[in-house]
Order: sequence, then C-alpha cells, then structure tokens
Amino acid sequence: MSERTALYEGKAKIVYASESPDELVLHFKDDTSAFDGEKVEQLAHKGEINNAFNTFIMEYLQGEGVPTHFIRRLNARESLVRRLEMIPVECVVRNRAAGSLSKRLGIEEGRILEPPTLEFFLKNDALHDPMINTSHIRTFGWATTEEVEAMRRWTMRVNILLSALFAKANLILVDFKLEFGRFDGELYLGDEFSPDGCRLWDARSLEKMDKDRFRRNLGGVVEAYIEVARRLGVPLPAVS
Ligand code: TMP
Ligand code: ASP
Repeated sequence: MSERTALYEGKAKIVYASESPDELVLHFKDDTSAFDGEKVEQLAHKGEINNAFNTFIMEYLQGEGVPTHFIRRLNARESLVRRLEMIPVECVVRNRAAGSLSKRLGIEEGRILEPPTLEFFLKNDALHDPMINTSHIRTFGWATTEEVEAMRRWTMRVNILLSALFAKANLILVDFKLEFGRFDGELYLGDEFSPDGCRLWDARSLEKMDKDRFRRNLGGVVEAYIEVARRLGVPLPAVS
C-alpha cells in the first residue's frame, strides 16, 4: 500500500486522508485504553471486530434515518467516512446507573434510570473529559443552540433504536457515548459505535460484555465483544 497521511491518531483509531478531500479513512487499532489513556493495552483482533461492529450499527442507524458519517467498510480494519468538522462534546445517555454517574452521585450500579439521563462531557483527555452543561457549550462556542438540540434529539433517538436492537440479542444497553460533527451545515453522527464506547450487560446474568471488562481487569474482553457481535448477527472476519 502507498504511503498515506495520518491526519490524526487517537487512542483507538487513526484517521487517514483519502483520495477525496471530503472523505476520510478510519483505521481501527487493537489499542484499548481506559482512564483517559492511563491504561493502554493491545488486544489482538479488537480493531477488526470493532470495525465490523461499527459498520453493522452505523448501517442500521442510517437505515432508520439517523444521519451518520459512515460511507462503507473498506477492509478488515478500515472504513470510509464523510469528513466532519467535529464538535468536541461527548453525548452520554444512561438507561441504568454505572461508571462515573454512580461515583459522582452515589447511585448504586444497575439502578434503572427512568427517564434515561443525557449528559455532556468536554472531549479533553488532559482535563479528564469534564462534565459540561448546555450553557457552557453555548458560551464557549463548542456548538450552537440548534446543534445542541439536534444532538439531544438524535442521541435520544439512537437510544430508543439501539436499546431495542440489543434487547433482541438479550443485552441491556446500560449507557453509551456519541460524538457529532458538521458537514455542509448539517449535523451528522460521527466517531464509532462499539463495545469500547458503551456498556452492555447480559440481560439475565447482568454480566459485563463491554470495555468495563478491560477497565476492571475481568479478562475475556475480546471474547465478550465477539459474543455480543454473534448475538446481534454482525458478520465477523475470521479472527482465529
Ligand atoms: P462514564 O460512566 O465513564 O461517564 O461513561 C459513560 C459511557 O460513555 C460509557 O459507556 C463509556 C462511554 N465513554 C466513552 O466511551 N468515552 C469517554 O471518554 C467517556 C467520558 C465515556
Ligand atoms: N475512552 C477513554 C479512555 O481511554 C475513557 C474510557 O473509556 O475509560 O481513556
């Protein structure tokens, strides 16, 4: 393959330029990070699995009318996406208490949140992704009032769609993070959706099937991702 320009390297992905100025290549790495990059390990095949997983979810959401940056999967580890101007805000929906919400508010893990909560975090590892509110987003110009409203609406819509999809696979979508960006004046869902950026529990045993296995050193991280993919019917590359 010819030399390519890496435009940006994140913790789990590399972003390359493509032949078109309006399109980018996302390369999914095996690197797995937690605690804002404090803990990093390579988990064999995770990149291929997340690329396949993300393809499945993005195509599903697109089919349900959600505007996403996803164009197509290119190969085992790469996908082509629309080049967005990213909004540095992480949108987190929670259907059950876990993670930073449990810690911050002293709510026991697993409590059903009705209605689900929506939180915004600033995407900034050096500051440990602090929680922010819509007033901060407007004052500091991270997004307009209309964009905040659109992010809120699309995030809640994705929650309804994906909660139902995972429920059919006997999985509870506990929480997840989305990122959005702009293209041609319109808002699009960007980044990725994979077990790296959400919490999924087995509906019966409540066993963790997501990156919490890595954060908490539970082992079987990639095996859990593969099991989630298998239940959803995600076509996986041969990763033996
Ligand atoms: P939290 O409990 O750590 O705030 O995370 C909530 C959900 O959002 C969880 O599924 C993990 C995901 N998330 C990320 O993927 N990246 C992030 O930087 C943050 C803050 C959350
Ligand atoms: N993705 C972030 C990190 O790597 C936060 C996390 O998922 O724990 O550090």
